[in-house]
This record gives sequence, C-alpha cells and structure tokens, in this order.
Amino acid sequence: MSYFRAGADDEALVTAPSVDRPEEVADGVTVDRRRVFWLSAAGVTALLLGRSPRAQDPAAPRRDGRRDGLDYTSFLETVYPLARRLVDSEGEDEEAYLMTVAAAMSRIRDHQAPLRAAMQAFRKQHASDPNKTRRFPLAAMTMDLKPGKGFSHHDHLDYNGVILGIGGEARVRNYDFVGAPPAQDSKRSFEVRETRDDLLLPGRISTLGRNRDNVHDLVAGKAGAKVLDVFTFFTKRATSRYLDVEDAPRDAETRVYEAAWRQRRRRRG
Ligand SMILES: [Fe+2]
Repeated sequence: MSYFRAGADDEALVTAPSVDRPEEVADGVTVDRRRVFWLSAAGVTALLLGRSPRAQDPAAPRRDGRRDGLDYTSFLETVYPLARRLVDSEGEDEEAYLMTVAAAMSRIRDHQAPLRAAMQAFRKQHASDPNKTRRFPLAAMTMDLKPGKGFSHHDHLDYNGVILGIGGEARVRNYDFVGAPPAQDSKRSFEVRETRDDLLLPGRISTLGRNRDNVHDLVAGKAGAKVLDVFTFFTKRATSRYLDVEDAPRDAETRVYEAAWRQRRRRRG
C-alpha cells in the first residue's frame, strides 16, 4: 500500500503529515505512529563499529542459541545501514535486502510498543544528518484498515516495500508492468500482469521490488486489518501513481490486464 502522492517533486512526496496523531490517509485507512527516520553518519559508523553488533544481523543467535526479538529501535538500527547500502549500490542484491527486512520485521515482538516515542528518541539521537539533501531511504509505519477499505491499484516508482500482517486480514494482489508503461499524463492503455494474489494474515509478509510486483492493491477483509509497512526509497522522485485496471484479464491464462494511469487520484470508496 502507499500513501505517497504522485507528481510531487521533493520531500513533500509524503502526504501523510508528522507523527503526532493517527492520520487518515485513505478512506478507512489510518496511519499510526508514522515516522520517517534520519540517521547520522556518526550513527552509521557506531553501528558498523559494533555498538549494536547483533542488531545488524537479525538472524544472529545469542551465545545460548536462543533468538531475541527486536524492538522498534533495534529493528531500525538493523535495517538502516542495509537500506543505505542498497540505495548507494543502486539496488544491488535487492531481493536479499527485502528478505532481510522481512526477517527483521518478523522478529519484532511487540507491535503495541510505543513506536512513536522510540522514533522520536531515534531521531533526536541522530539529529545532525549531513545527508539531508538526499531523500532519507527508510520509512516505517503501521496502518489500520477498516473492513473492506484499503488502496486501489498503484505503483511504487523508485521504491520498494515490505508489508507485515499484524491483525485481521487483507487481500493483496501484485502486478508487473508488461514492458515500460507510458508517461503518467498519457491516456494510452498499457498492460500489467498479475503476479500474486495473497491473503495477508498476521505474521505473513508481502514484498514488492523496484522491478517486480511493483503494482499492487490491498483491501482489508470483513474484520479489517492492521499492517506494518517498511519502505525503502531510491531517489527523491520516489512516488506512487494510481492506475485503473480492467476487472477481467485480457488474457486469462497469463493474467494480463489492460490498465491506464488514473489522471486524477481518487480514494477507494
Ligand atoms: Fe503500496
């Protein structure tokens, strides 16, 4: 899912405001405790030098062989240097990165923990970021979706994402573009191919990469849904663009659908 507005050209791409209170970002969808994180070079250095050595490897067992869960802060400390490395390498080993993020998300033990407070402390700790001219690569948030609500089809231009089900259930369908889509202002139709049709239950993961499964829609089930999202942005232009997808596939066997950019964003009714 996404709440990132298409067409913006700077940090204001993120349409949801700051973190002081839950924000309704689509009809029936509320973002909780949202936060975008900044981490200083000093913070990265400290991490790389081993201040939190185990936190950099979410799969690392303790000496007694047991595995700890992660709190939100240790999760961010785990993922941030990996996100920076991914972006700096322009996407090298993106699949491994997504799996690592998913593994770390699966080890978060307390989703009721005060994420917002943890994030405020994290930001304060890393307040002097010399790279603010670049888009910060990481965003994490939880979302509450009312029954039957969610996000209609949209892409994730220049960013990837991992979604963890926390409560309830949601249907998530993913698509690839068939070839390069036209410019967003084009009314010309193009094709997308359905690649996944998943039920997101608590503890289950949905991922999308920059070049695979990059289009999706997400609709909560009858009991609603709660999810944790982690997004990684490659460029300042990273954004989402909504598209209309025909109900029936053009080719039932390959699950290819005709689609067109939605010229004016609507929220799902
Ligand atoms: Fe999305």
